[in-house]
Amino acid sequence: MMSEERKHRVCPVERAKVLDLFWRKLLQNPGRILRPYIKEGMTVLDLGCGPGFFTLEMARLVGKTGKVVAADLQQGMLDKAEKKIAAAGLADVVTFHLCPGNGIGLAKRFDFILVFYMLHEAPDPGAFLSELRSLLKPSGRVLLAEPSFHVSRGEFQKSIGLMTRAGLEIVAEPVIFLSQAGYFVFMWGGSPQPSKKTPAPLVLP
Ligand SMILES: C[S@@+](CC[C@H](N)C(=O)[O-])C[C@H]1O[C@@H](n2cnc3c(N)ncnc32)[C@H](O)[C@@H]1O
Repeated sequence: MMSEERKHRVCPVERAKVLDLFWRKLLQNPGRILRPYIKEGMTVLDLGCGPGFFTLEMARLVGKTGKVVAADLQQGMLDKAEKKIAAAGLADVVTFHLCPGNGIGLAKRFDFILVFYMLHEAPDPGAFLSELRSLLKPSGRVLLAEPSFHVSRGEFQKSIGLMTRAGLEIVAEPVIFLSQAGYFVFMWGGSPQPSKKTPAPLVLP
């Protein structure tokens, strides 16, 4: 069994290639995962972007009229993501942000925030999620995914509780290979608005 310390350790830059293996696209296709949530012209955030596995697709989906911010704690990860985006000719769409370590450190507002395989690495997920909520537009949405090989169902339920406490209501649990996932909407003034159930996208190829 994995120790608590190892579970919460930040994924080092030397392991970035594991996040970018060619077969990951077959199991966790970024287009299929993100297409239901990201539309052209949106301003979106890839929080804990790593080497940019999802950033590239986010940039394609928002198009030239949209904006992507790719944020990470490690400059080495941002460098890798930046190279990938430049090679795809999407440098105009994406900006890169180095998180300070004790928070996210952004002042922008987003239509959509992706938190993929990152939350379990945060030292204080509750504080992290309160800050995240403050970055959402009133119509903002969040897709949270955690690796089911690191994060148990019970632990993920706790994260859903933290999201709720931060002011985000879960409206769907999308099926993503090897993952626990939730799709969240902004809650108004602490009292949830009636939420439409969003169809959960099936992401297996
Ligand atoms: C397992 S990787 C996942 C990367 C990417 N989301 C993906 O699915 O390919 C987690 C990433 O989150 C970043 N990270 C961890 N804690 C963070 C924090 N407090 N603020 C911003 N990024 C963080 C790590 O540096 C790492 O790049």
